[in-house]
Amino acid sequence: MIKRVRKAIFPVAGLGTRLLPATKSIPKEMITVVDRPLIQYAVDEAREAGVEQLIFVTGRGKAALVDYFDVAFELEATMSSKGKNLDVLAPSRASFGEIVTVRQQQPLGLGHAVWCAREIVGDEPFAVLLPDELMLGKPNCLKQMVEAYDRVGGNVVAALEVPESETHQYGVIDPGASDGRLTEIRGMVEKPAPGTAPSNIMLPGRYILQPEVMRELDRQETGAGGEIQLTDAMARLIGRQPFNAFLFDGRRHDCGSAAGFVIANLAMALEREDIAPSVRDYLQSSLSRSDGEGDRFA
Ligand code: G1P
Repeated sequence: MIKRVRKAIFPVAGLGTRLLPATKSIPKEMITVVDRPLIQYAVDEAREAGVEQLIFVTGRGKAALVDYFDVAFELEATMSSKGKNLDVLAPSRASFGEIVTVRQQQPLGLGHAVWCAREIVGDEPFAVLLPDELMLGKPNCLKQMVEAYDRVGGNVVAALEVPESETHQYGVIDPGASDGRLTEIRGMVEKPAPGTAPSNIMLPGRYILQPEVMRELDRQETGAGGEIQLTDAMARLIGRQPFNAFLFDGRRHDCGSAAGFVIANLAMALEREDIAPSVRDYLQSSLSRSDGEGDRFA
């Protein structure tokens, strides 16, 4: 029997050093893409995919993330008394018990962050979403994966092709036979040295995993960069459990970098009916004036 995916882990303890100074006093997951913080997109994705419990693995300085999903009593009371519509706040309100937080007390890696949630996950399959990877698709990425998982079970991880020159930045799979969007995984390696990657298919940060991966993480073995890597724990399960890569149909924006954030903002703004016309006008006139150098006086 294939158990439903009801829980999702959001590793949000990272320091966000690639986005300093912005992230000096706010979590990178609270930086906005158009008018929503990045975390909202990942939470929406999980909710739409049927996830009922959101597990935030947080750390020091990340309280704003938890406050964001709470009821803002003073704000709501003030808005109501002035007759303002509260609908705009709806996605940021968690229902009772929907969000559970656990602290990752030391930055020991993604595998360690996931392991910190082991008691909350218990003995059932779970999803992991890395919020700085903004995945846009219809249906959304996790939902596409859940649909595939509900058919085949086991472990299903999102996968995307990248240029070979980028594989050293990511977890990369050794692909086997393919069936539609699913590809059997024969092995995987975290941040392979340039020229040594088994393929150009990387893991963009969406996973559906069986609870046994927590037992692998119990070993607390370090890998690439001296960190406890989720990729290594998953790799050890290959052969013992089914492992499939799901070739995601959609677009990915890496919001862990400033350029990625700007591009994600433009992409999302151009999809928003209310602001797309003015953003498009600005871009068009700016690009045609600037010979590609940008509009210095805007
Ligand atoms: C993490 C994972 C890696 C994955 C990447 C996606 O790496 O370890 O396997 O490909 O996220 O963004 P990080 O970016 O945290 O170094």
